[in-house]
Amino acid sequence: MKGIVLAGGKGTRLLPLTKFTNKHLLPIYDRPMIFFPLATLRESGVREVLIVTDGKYLADFKKILKNFPGLKISFALQKKPDGIAGALRLAEKFAAGENIAVILGDNIFEANFKKDVCEFQSGAQVFLKKVADPERFGVAEIRGTRVSKIIEKPKNPKSDLAVVGLYFFDKNVFDIIRKMNPSKRGELEITDVNNFYLQQKSLICSKIKGFWTDAGTFESLAAATKLVREKGQK
Ligand code: DAU
Repeated sequence: MKGIVLAGGKGTRLLPLTKFTNKHLLPIYDRPMIFFPLATLRESGVREVLIVTDGKYLADFKKILKNFPGLKISFALQKKPDGIAGALRLAEKFAAGENIAVILGDNIFEANFKKDVCEFQSGAQVFLKKVADPERFGVAEIRGTRVSKIIEKPKNPKSDLAVVGLYFFDKNVFDIIRKMNPSKRGELEITDVNNFYLQQKSLICSKIKGFWTDAGTFESLAAATKLVREKGQK
């Protein structure tokens, strides 16, 4: 599988730090944030990665990632932060019809996904983790034993299962994004993409093991630093 790291966006929740650098270059304990999603992809068996970012700090990304071991890395530029699915759209040429593993640049995972990468064939796959603050995330609504819908940042979450920032898609994802409309906040939402696959009955939902956090707010950045310091690094 090819890998895509999404590292654009506004980073407004980490202002003023994101006034002088890209969120994904900020440190988590002893290394830049983007090292973590790259390592997760590598440990999952991915060898070729596209990083989507806004271009403002492209030279810094290139400098920091020059000798990143085990991955062939290239870049695509997202001109305006029009959402996660908006950023993903830019990877169509890179994907070249293959299945892709997409990871959000601010997501930190303890586990790797080698087995899932090997087993994935078609449709899409999302990963779920029980959290204490589901209203911050995409949340899986459960009916019986199955996920019936994913709701983006619900005010009153119906479960505590967050949809984490790792997704597998087949080649149809780009046609699906093309047909989508922006949400109320003006973004092409990854949750809409996943709900489309869910309606088609082609979405696999798996629970993940080990710690997981995003690092896009000061609280979660501090939590990620603490976790990485305590648990060590891949
Ligand atoms: O962390 C998991 C959550 O990530 C999911 O549970 C949500 O369903 C998903 O929408 C997302 O929510 P966030 O509000 O945390 O997304 P955020 O806007 O922080 O974007 C996450 C990453 O995606 C960010 O680190 C960079 C990338 N991104 C985001 C946008 C909006 C882009 O590359 N381009 C963009 O335009």
